[in-house]
Amino acid sequence: MSKNLEVILTPAICSNFSFENKTVVIIDVLRATSTIAFALNRGFKKVITCRDVELARSLKNQQSLVAGERNGDKIPGFDLGNSPYEIANLETIPENLVLTSTNGTKSVEIAIQSGAEEILCGALVNVQSLADYINRNNNDIILFCAGWKDHENIEDTYMAGCLIDKLNHCSLVNDSAFMASSIYQSHQNNSLIFLEKANHYQRLMRKGNASDIEVCLQESSLSVVPKLISHQNDISIFTKA
Ligand code: MLT
Repeated sequence: MSKNLEVILTPAICSNFSFENKTVVIIDVLRATSTIAFALNRGFKKVITCRDVELARSLKNQQSLVAGERNGDKIPGFDLGNSPYEIANLETIPENLVLTSTNGTKSVEIAIQSGAEEILCGALVNVQSLADYINRNNNDIILFCAGWKDHENIEDTYMAGCLIDKLNHCSLVNDSAFMASSIYQSHQNNSLIFLEKANHYQRLMRKGNASDIEVCLQESSLSVVPKLISHQNDISIFTKA
C-alpha cells in the first residue's frame, strides 16, 4: 500500500496542510534536529524541547542540562548552545537535555498543535535509520522543514529529498516534495559545494561553528530516531524510538 508524502518547506504555510493521522518528520539540519539526535546518541535519556527561553531556563535542575540558541548564538546563562559537536563530546551527562532553538523547537510545537499523530526528528546524520523506521510503518507522511524564520532553506530541503530517496512505497503528492527530491538528486554527488551556499551554513561559519557544520552534514552517522513521547504545558519530550 502506497503512503502519501508531502513536504512543507517552511512553517509559514503549514496551515495549508492537514496533519491528522500523519507521521511528521521535523527537519532542522543546522542544527536542532541534529542536536536532538546527537543528544540521544550520546546517552541522554530524554530531550525536552520548548519554544520559550525562560521556560527552558526554568527546567534546569540536577537531572538536566539546558541548551539553546537564538539567531545561532548561545543563550546567555544556558549550559550549552545548540551545538551537536559540544553535546557529542561531553565527558559526563545528566539524564536529560533541555533544548530551545530559533526554528526547530518552534516547528515541533506547530506540528503538535496541528494534530500530528506521530512526530519524529530528522537530519542528515540519522536519515537512514529514519527511513528504515518509516518504511516499517504505514502512516501518510509530512516532511516538515523548519527553515529559517519562516523562509525556506537549502539544507532542510536537501535533507527532505535525501530521505525521500530512501523511502519505499511513497507517493509524492505536492510540488514541494518533487522539488526536494530533484534538489537532492541533482546535488547528492557534490553535496558540500551545494550546501555551503546555504544562508545558515554561512551564518554559522561566521560565528565559528565549523565543527557543528562538519558533524551535521555527515549522512547516516547516527543510528537513532528521536520520537515524541509526550507533550504537556508547552513542554515536549523526545526519546529514542
Ligand atoms: C534552528 O532551530 O533554527 C537552528 O537550530 C538554529 C541554530 O541552531 O543555529
